[in-house]
Amino acid sequence: MKDRISEKFAKLYGRAPEVVSRAPGRIEFIGNHTDYNGGYVMGAAIDKFVYCALAKRQDRKLCFANARSGEKVCVDMDNISPLPRELNWVNYPLGVFKFLVDAGMKADCGFDMTDMSTLPSGAGLSSSAAIELSSAFAMKALYGFDLGLKDTVRIGRKCENEFVGMPCGILDQGVSGFGKEDALVFIDCLTEEFSTCELPHNTAFWIFNSTKKHALVDGLYAERHKECMNAAKVLSGGVQNFKLLRHFTLDDLESVKSRISNEEYKRAKHVISENARVLKVKDALKAGDIKLVGKLMVASHESSRDLFENSCEELDFLVKAATATDGVYGARLMGGGFGGAAIALTDASFDELKAQSIADKYAEAYGKRPTVFSCRSGDGAKVL
Ligand code: GLA
Repeated sequence: MKDRISEKFAKLYGRAPEVVSRAPGRIEFIGNHTDYNGGYVMGAAIDKFVYCALAKRQDRKLCFANARSGEKVCVDMDNISPLPRELNWVNYPLGVFKFLVDAGMKADCGFDMTDMSTLPSGAGLSSSAAIELSSAFAMKALYGFDLGLKDTVRIGRKCENEFVGMPCGILDQGVSGFGKEDALVFIDCLTEEFSTCELPHNTAFWIFNSTKKHALVDGLYAERHKECMNAAKVLSGGVQNFKLLRHFTLDDLESVKSRISNEEYKRAKHVISENARVLKVKDALKAGDIKLVGKLMVASHESSRDLFENSCEELDFLVKAATATDGVYGARLMGGGFGGAAIALTDASFDELKAQSIADKYAEAYGKRPTVFSCRSGDGAKVL
């Protein structure tokens, strides 16, 4: 891949890149919408990546060439602000550059950049965090900026929150940065501590992408975020003493039930119980109880479906069909929701044939095939 992207860079810019980097996509193993509530979440980096190639320019321009269309966009590095929606693909590396400079990176000239991907975009595998982490690693190397992994991950999230305008938590960038082969990444999103848990042997991840995307998905994500913050505000007794939902129990929630909306109550109930499930999964993994892990995954899906209300008929169908198939420990929706993908944890006997039988059932019900593939956990972002 390093050769392929270098060749592409040479075609676009007439010289070799100085740096090539890559960062993986992620799966959300368990912990749905817990991250921005200061909770717990587990994910894994996967063996599919976004690659970036970069070289310095003589002037003060930052140029980005789109991997798919070949379109090239250049901006002045001394005058950076988010580009309009149709050029949103530029905003990820552009925002990362801006926040790296704010963090102290000395960039004496601009750069040329292009990217390439083995990560399907729009499949709920967080290609946006992968481009943020990959470009951050490439820029740090190009300008010789020494910034720790946690701070680099934070810059990816800051870019998403403040430059792209998506109020996500730290999950996607954290996992793309801290991923390890054969391991799950556990994140305490309040303290921003990252650790890894060994993955049980002879298990595999299968992704079932419904290929459905809710037209209002960004707005719905922001709405859920707001409902959680509103519930937390009341639980905290006001804004002065604001604490995220992570700090509260189901009993606390019951005590304010009459003072919040029914929606806010349900969202908070999901988040508080989901945090407890993540911790149970961590313990069950340690104890080698994969069956329990699978059950907790299904319970997580049901809570997203019934309380957080970010599932959809297609995802419920995929989860149900998967869990009814031999060799599947558990399945659930992952990521923002309202469409997107479901993940199944399976044993080694689960194969393409079984996966395609689930896809057949889905095609029969909805008239279109889901994209189905298995993936292994891989290492986090790096310069190649
Ligand atoms: C998206 C966001 C994450 C997280 C998940 C839901 O993937 O980017 O930060 O909130 O949704 O758990």
